[in-house]
Amino acid sequence: MTENSNPIREKVERCTAALREKLDGTPVPGIALVLGSGLGLLAEQMEVSCTVPYEELGDFPVSTAPGHAGRFLFGTLAGTPLVMMQGRVHYYEGYPMSDVVLPIRVLARLGVRTLILTNAAGGLDPDFKPGDLMLITDHITSFVPSPLIGMNIDEYGPRFPDQTEAYDHDLNELLLDSARAVGVELHQGIYLQLTGPQFETPAEIRDYRSLGADAVGMSTAVEVIAADHMGLRVAAISCITNLGAGMPGQAHLSSEEVDVSAALAAGHFSTLLACAIGRIAAEQEK
Ligand code: HPA
Repeated sequence: MTENSNPIREKVERCTAALREKLDGTPVPGIALVLGSGLGLLAEQMEVSCTVPYEELGDFPVSTAPGHAGRFLFGTLAGTPLVMMQGRVHYYEGYPMSDVVLPIRVLARLGVRTLILTNAAGGLDPDFKPGDLMLITDHITSFVPSPLIGMNIDEYGPRFPDQTEAYDHDLNELLLDSARAVGVELHQGIYLQLTGPQFETPAEIRDYRSLGADAVGMSTAVEVIAADHMGLRVAAISCITNLGAGMPGQAHLSSEEVDVSAALAAGHFSTLLACAIGRIAAEQEK
């Protein structure tokens, strides 16, 4: 392999070029929103001008998870230009981490500057209820491989990126302020990413709680690492769809429960996001 040939970089560049071609001159919005499990309903609030299914982008990874439609939507949300990713791929689907974060790298190469990730998560704080929203203020990824393992792509970012503020402080303040403005409760906490696909055992949940986690899930944190590596401004919000396995009041877990709870939260989630995205766009124009 020569210094300039890296199959991971080449795939990102190939998929970015394929997406650019599909856009056919449609301007690239400055903000991207990734929708998590069961949150696809948020896409219905969007005025869509261009839809690009992932499978039309050559070897772009395609989601096999239920509830993940698998397409880019370009358009506006409450009048603000935005690209939404409806569906993402997960490590548990068998994709290498480089594929799991490929869509994020493609968005960055396309010209997106601000990324908001959403997911469904199990709550570890006993005060959380299904349908609650939690702003992720930091994460623990010690149980999943880093997406940056392998030859560093220097033009994307540094070999040893600092993680002190992976989640952008000002963006978080904007989201908290937007939540107050629209009357949506937004908790704050630490997200711990696991590989899945099995849900956790009660013993694991007790262990993760003692590590300081407030929510657990199977996505997002590695995407934050890849986005931060490339210099994107990142924020992420979990929709708490259930409490962790074995916690008081939590019956057996199922993906159906996750989807039902996420759908119940979609209304206030989209109210919050519409407000926040408008403010971010206004800020970027300054
Ligand atoms: N654990 C892991 N991932 C999840 C959960 C959970 O309890 N709920 C939604 N996604």
